[in-house]
Amino acid sequence: MVSRLLTFTLLLVSVPSWGAPSRQLCLSCHLSHYAARCGCSDCHRGNPAAKRKNIAHSGLRAGKYVRFTLGVEAERRDGERLMDKLACRRCHVSGGRGNRLAVSLDGAADRKTAGELVFSIRQPVATMPNFALNDEQRTTLVNVIYAGSSEHGTDKAAPVKVHFNNSGTKNADIFMTKCGSCHRMLSQRLGAAGTGEIGPNLSGLFSGFYPKTFRNGETWTPGNLNDWLKNPREIKPQARMLAVALTEKEIKELYMILLISPDSNR
Ligand code: HEC
Ligand code: HEC
Ligand code: HEC
Ligand code: HEC
Repeated sequence: MVSRLLTFTLLLVSVPSWGAPSRQLCLSCHLSHYAARCGCSDCHRGNPAAKRKNIAHSGLRAGKYVRFTLGVEAERRDGERLMDKLACRRCHVSGGRGNRLAVSLDGAADRKTAGELVFSIRQPVATMPNFALNDEQRTTLVNVIYAGSSEHGTDKAAPVKVHFNNSGTKNADIFMTKCGSCHRMLSQRLGAAGTGEIGPNLSGLFSGFYPKTFRNGETWTPGNLNDWLKNPREIKPQARMLAVALTEKEIKELYMILLISPDSNR
């Protein structure tokens, strides 16, 4: 894998024609394109030594999912911007950065086909927000995921374990009693918490990967959250959320649920 990545990088940089694999049987069925850059499989994957289509195409990435290989700066920037806006990294590592509350997208890029990645974004598991994106946005995100993993390796590190609350049978925690009817989150401590959809998903609130939605684009700190809970409308005049009164002890408990240990994000 490492050597494959290395070859890929070298080829992109120096573009020597001797670099293309000599046995590139893709060309027995397809016309050549971007040949000056590298071999077909450096961009599309698949198996260039196979003559039969189904074998040659195993693990193939269609053209629209490998647009990132062309290195168009503006496209790359727009993609990163979309991923930042949706804050995928509040839960996932991508391109070596992010919280480890869910599986690493750098690892997923290697294990999953583009179709599977698209499906996971379009029909997310219950603990991942449904972003209701269009085809083009999903394609853009898959390009960002592939670009990130090609630069940062496949990341075999395990995510922080997500425990599923069997709600009702356990003592309810402070998040479930005071916030969970409107919010969801993945907590390092509790796993999947909350069932509400009307407020934003609060995963990784105190990390650098949560959107900077506090007053004037500030990050969320325990102090800021405290002010928000006392009176959301003072922070955001049109806020729909009402004040939530908590005791000192409850606030401490809430912070512990929201915090992420430093070694689980980077
Ligand atoms: C035996 C002939 C054959 C070989 C060998 C072959 N292909 Fe194809 N390829 C096709 C045909 C035919 C299609 C049209 C769609 C289909 O039938 O799957 C296609 C479609 C594609 C597509 C579009 C896929 C999509 O989902 O839109 C890409 C990309 C592609 N091939 C790349 C490659 C690469 C890279 C290789 C070598 C690793 C390769 N092909 C080897 C015959 C072949
Ligand atoms: C530098 C990366 C790169 C290389 C090398 C490359 N491709 Fe592509 N390919 C793309 C991109 C990106 C697209 C999407 C359309 C475009 O920009 O041309 C694409 C589109 C295609 C398509 C059209 C169907 C589709 O999926 O969009 C086929 C077929 C294809 N490539 C086959 C090949 C074959 C065969 C080779 C080897 C001769 C090859 N490609 C080499 C990046 C590459
Ligand atoms: C609130 C946390 C959260 C956020 C935010 C989030 N996801 Fe997920 N995502 C998950 C969980 C949970 C899974 C299921 C796998 C697991 O349990 O780790 C998942 C699975 C995935 C998978 C499938 C991975 C695999 O190995 O099967 C992809 C792809 C994915 N997410 C992409 C995204 C993208 C892109 C974004 C941003 C638009 C995003 N996710 C935002 C929690 C999240
Ligand atoms: C009755 C529903 C409800 C409850 C209960 C609730 N919230 Fe909210 N919360 C919302 C809604 C709706 C928003 C969206 C912002 C707004 O008010 O317009 C929100 C926004 C937030 C935000 C701002 C997030 C952002 O990115 O803008 C934070 C932080 C927050 N809530 C934390 C909490 C915490 C912590 C609790 C529990 C102590 C809690 N909320 C309880 C409904 C609720």
